Amino acid sequence: MQRYELAAVTGLDSLTRVERDVPRPGPGQVLIRTTAWSLNYRDLLVAGGRYGPPRAGCVPLSDGVGVIEEVGAGVTRVAVGDRVAGIFMQGWIAGDIPGDAGNTALGGAIDGMLSEYVVLSAEGVVKVPAHLTDAEAASLPCAAVTAWNALVRESGIRAGDTVVLLGTGGVSLIALQFAKLHGATTIVTSSSDAKLDIARRLGADHTVNYRAQPDWDRAVLDITNGRGADIVVEVGGPGTFDKSLAALRPGGHLPLIGVLTGVNGAVSTAAILRKHIRVHGIYVGSREMFDEMNRAIAASGLRPPVDRNFGFDDARAAYEHLERAAHAGKVTLTR
Ligand SMILES: NC(=O)c1ccc[n+]([C@@H]2O[C@H](COP(=O)([O-])OP(=O)(O)OC[C@H]3O[C@@H](n4cnc5c(N)ncnc54)[C@H](OP(=O)(O)O)[C@@H]3O)[C@@H](O)[C@H]2O)c1
Repeated sequence: MQRYELAAVTGLDSLTRVERDVPRPGPGQVLIRTTAWSLNYRDLLVAGGRYGPPRAGCVPLSDGVGVIEEVGAGVTRVAVGDRVAGIFMQGWIAGDIPGDAGNTALGGAIDGMLSEYVVLSAEGVVKVPAHLTDAEAASLPCAAVTAWNALVRESGIRAGDTVVLLGTGGVSLIALQFAKLHGATTIVTSSSDAKLDIARRLGADHTVNYRAQPDWDRAVLDITNGRGADIVVEVGGPGTFDKSLAALRPGGHLPLIGVLTGVNGAVSTAAILRKHIRVHGIYVGSREMFDEMNRAIAASGLRPPVDRNFGFDDARAAYEHLERAAHAGKVTLTR
């Protein structure tokens, strides 16, 4: 079988396609014949050695979907023929995040999914909604679970809330769909008017081009008649954090997800306390959240937005497409 490895972790040149034996499932494990994958911004960080301790030789990607071809001794949770995705942190099943969950993150701390066959623990997979294509289903494990955790679990989104989504990447556009599913009013920002058109087609009620209007927080206040938004899905990090605070209503929720502008920076702590802002640290989510989200996706018929699909042979081109940030939604791969 073929798989990709990051021979070094010094950038996209590290991505190497290699021939390996098909692995065999041990007790409690399953063998998955993968059919589709998706990329996340995190995969660029991993390839560049900027995400956790760099691990040369790592198989990249947290997000992959496939069909179980063989089960090891004692497996009863899933069966041969089930279409499943791996969960981002193999060690986070339910409840609060375990302190060492990051050590079990696919495509980073441990080998990931960009392989024609993968062996995972039977506990580390979920069945994916039947109506989704393989590429759509492969869009779920990182971006969608993160968006679900941020909006539903941590921020307790309710019908009538106003939700702000920053940019049109994978997390933000899936979060837009979940916000609409819950009856929210949505405001999407982007650097591109063409991408804002896509966001409107996905249900954005208001759009703001943050290049043309860098004080997008003012625009949010104008749209909400001065009240501020109930939730800002914070994917920017230090470069957008203070504007996100300014765009929120008193008591509003700020699920803190992204590092697009870096991982350190000055933060207006006084603004947080004066406005009683609830800042939630978000690190993807548990298997329980993934299952809960899948039920909502199945019931609603929602389809994650795929910007562009590449072949397994073209993984490097897919990474480069993500790196150019010309996409809106998810970048996927299929066999
Ligand atoms: N904490 C977690 O568990 C977790 C999980 C998933 C993702 N993340 C993080 O969340 C972020 C987004 O991930 P992703 O996979 O969705 O990325 P992505 O698909 O690569 O999206 C990138 C998009 O973000 C927008 N953007 C970039 N800089 C921006 C800025 N300063 N202000 C507003 N928007 C900006 C751009 O959209 P426009 O071109 O439309 O402006 C860009 O295309 C990343 O930092 C990622 O590491 C964290």
